[in-house]
Amino acid sequence: MALTMSLSAHHAAGLPTASDGEFPIITVSHLTKVYRQVVRREGFTGALIDLFNRRYREVRAVDDISFTIARGEIVGYIGANGAGKSTTIKILTGILVPTSGKVVVNGLVPWRERFRHTRQIGVVFGQRTQLWWDLAVIEAFRLLKEIYRVPEREFRRRLDLFVEVLDIADLLHTQVRKLSLGQRMKCDLAASLLHNPPVVFLDEPTIGLDVAVKQRIRKFIRTVNAEEKTTVILTTHDLKDIEALCPRLIILDRGRILYDGSQAGLLERFGRYRRLFMELDLRALGIEGDPTSPEALDRVRKHLRELIESYQMRLRHRGGPIFSLSFDRTQISASEVLEAVLKSLPVHDLELREPDLEQIVRAIYERSSQDQQVIATPNRTRT
Ligand SMILES: Nc1ncnc2c1ncn2[C@@H]1O[C@H](COP(=O)(O)OP(=O)(O)O)[C@@H](O)[C@H]1O
Ligand SMILES: [Mg+2]
Repeated sequence: MALTMSLSAHHAAGLPTASDGEFPIITVSHLTKVYRQVVRREGFTGALIDLFNRRYREVRAVDDISFTIARGEIVGYIGANGAGKSTTIKILTGILVPTSGKVVVNGLVPWRERFRHTRQIGVVFGQRTQLWWDLAVIEAFRLLKEIYRVPEREFRRRLDLFVEVLDIADLLHTQVRKLSLGQRMKCDLAASLLHNPPVVFLDEPTIGLDVAVKQRIRKFIRTVNAEEKTTVILTTHDLKDIEALCPRLIILDRGRILYDGSQAGLLERFGRYRRLFMELDLRALGIEGDPTSPEALDRVRKHLRELIESYQMRLRHRGGPIFSLSFDRTQISASEVLEAVLKSLPVHDLELREPDLEQIVRAIYERSSQDQQVIATPNRTRT
């Protein structure tokens, strides 16, 4: 029955079906969402004119995106503010109807079969709770159990697991309105998964939380994914979440997909820049005054001029006697840079830093806002 349903929904949506019988649990095809925003005129007269003659501007929040997600994946869905993450999540959860494009989640078209869809997904929006303010946590859980008709034994089993992993035993009899943000988020996560949905959407679940709570939440997501093969789509600003949880990343920028692939692949593709941190002997360099002055930087640069100019390196002052040199590892090896630096400068200490996810992603956001083409056709050359 369920299979027939999922097959027909899949066919009805005109999407390709896999021959081996393994469907992606989520298929998104040429999805677009255009919002119409009212453009307000200025001042009182403007407001009056607005009343009778509204002007609109179109915002393509999601612009022709396609991807599939397999059962059991944990996918990080990231992008700068306004990239279109929440819009995508709202469409996938059935809250919003897209302008065009196709979506099938576990055999259902979310906005068309919203009621049935709600039973097969879990949703957490970091900014607001889905629980009832006046109920104690356990009462809210019991209510959800009734709504989703979770059998008592199953409910017990999952509750025990969640209480342990999230460390919420002491909160069960507390009224939801009295919980702190972190406590509430843990309870929200538990609530969203009590009915054991095959897919869960988490939109900024760690926003505003302290490190300890974030770590709990990560552990919880990992546990549920491992135990139940739950598919997780996670949006977050904290790339530590992504680093810890998501082998696969989809990077969104102004409604379009900039990157869809493994975290390792991203590091490899964009992580060409290495930084060498150098602690210098300022006195030996003849730098007497303020080491942050442009003159001090110039003095250091003079010693490395050839290296910097031949390989387009970037020299920066990092505070005190510390300077950094960033270079492209496909142009010159770290050992060559080290050798040249040691020969040219009085060095106390050196540290070579690999680029991390945070840096790479930030650089991608920055570069994409200047020139989208650079990212859309990433440089694949590598040595
Ligand atoms: N209800 C709405 N009406 C009009 N524009 C919206 C609405 N919701 C979001 N937008 C716009 O769509 C774009 C994407 O927003 P959103 O999906 O919330 O991005 P993100 O979650 O990545 O920060 C933004 O430019 C935002 O201003
Ligand atoms: Mg958002």
